[in-house]
Amino acid sequence: MDKLVINGGKPLFGSIEINGAKNAAVAILPAAILASKNVCNIDNIPNIEDVHCLERIIESLGCKIEVGKNSVVIDSTTINNVNANTEDVRKMRASYYLIGALLGRFKKARVELPGGCPIGVRPIDQHIKGFEALGAKVDITHGCVVVEADRLIGTNIFFDVVSVGATINVMLAATLAEGVTTLENVAKEPHIVDVANFLNSMGANIKGAGTDVIRVVGVKELQGCSYSVIPDQIEAGTYMIAAASCGGEVRLENIIPKHLESISAKLIESGTEIIEDGDCITVKSNGKLKGVNIKTQPYPGFPTDVQQPMSTLLTVAKGRSIISESIWESRFKHVDELKKMGANIKVEGRTAIIDGVDKLTGAVVKATDLRAGAAMVIAGLIADGVTEVLSIEHIDRGYPNIEDKFKALGADIKRVSCSE
Ligand code: EPZ
Repeated sequence: MDKLVINGGKPLFGSIEINGAKNAAVAILPAAILASKNVCNIDNIPNIEDVHCLERIIESLGCKIEVGKNSVVIDSTTINNVNANTEDVRKMRASYYLIGALLGRFKKARVELPGGCPIGVRPIDQHIKGFEALGAKVDITHGCVVVEADRLIGTNIFFDVVSVGATINVMLAATLAEGVTTLENVAKEPHIVDVANFLNSMGANIKGAGTDVIRVVGVKELQGCSYSVIPDQIEAGTYMIAAASCGGEVRLENIIPKHLESISAKLIESGTEIIEDGDCITVKSNGKLKGVNIKTQPYPGFPTDVQQPMSTLLTVAKGRSIISESIWESRFKHVDELKKMGANIKVEGRTAIIDGVDKLTGAVVKATDLRAGAAMVIAGLIADGVTEVLSIEHIDRGYPNIEDKFKALGADIKRVSCSE
């Protein structure tokens, strides 16, 4: 086990490149299973544990995989197993995309119920509603989701809640269904559009991704393609927040500024300067910020996935800030860790009330989940003295080379073995 040791209090200066989007990549890899001809050549894949986990799972189904530094070639013509039940499947949330992809291509699948970050109840009822509407029989038995259909037939599906996972999963199954599937009240996150673009490159006929309604005209077969994953909105947002919190001037390259508007807006409101320039953003801050109120919402609202890093920034922003977490019921587990560093935060249900303090002080803290881990790293970067962040396997699931990127910006941060 490793930990991150951070000697905080230094401003950040320099530029870093943002990697491909985790939450797009973890849907695109299973989507590649839908190709019954040719290989998928996928680029801008982030080098993170969730991606490696999925690569192993897909290989265990009989696909041939060649992994490059930031790319992967998937040959799914050799797939011979629709039963995904390895330890890796249980470890991660996105393994549920195997259900939609396998159901679409083979009309059956048996996939262990997914794991993922402990951020609240994570039902999949909307995924199941969609599969059933397409004509599949769905059972949950012995911890597995078992789906089977004689035929998948396009239909109208109105989701009861806006769900990223259900939108993508049902879209995957619908690509090879007979006729037209209309998905309403869908999620509009950038990675929904990216997955739809990937599927269209494979020969699917999907329109409307990025709006409330997606229309999928079923096609007979899909084939491999070459594709590059979009930049990671959440990784970029995390580094923007770190730069604003620490002070300094940081340029982020390979991003899509449009995807970051809700984060930029809140940073500007807090007193940060944001300069957009093509596919780059520069964040300038003197580290003296003021409190802002935040409500997490589906895209284009403020993303829940940067709520935890943003709450770290607000611990040292002047005045009172109120955060309402409207997506996940339990996404404030990092608050107790921030309190160890001197933060003044009160959590009431899904609301956190933060009264800014002059400074945080270094402590031994842990990453309770992926984005909580990023929040604790930022806390360590702004704190006086030394912070040790434990349980960083959570961080490695979603942030490529986090310590190298912060080091490149001048931070004093190193990864050491917990036994040292
Ligand atoms: C995706 O999770 C992301 N994960 C999450 O990012 C992100 O927080 C979330 O979308 C919201 O943006 C991946 O893409 C792998 P949802 P997902 O279905 O798809 C309720 C990270 O940090 N719901 O959009 O699981 C659910 O309880 C991770 O990278 C149902 O009620 O989220 C939640 O309140 C953490 N029934 C809301 O919808 C369902 O069938 C949104 O969930 C599905 C969801």
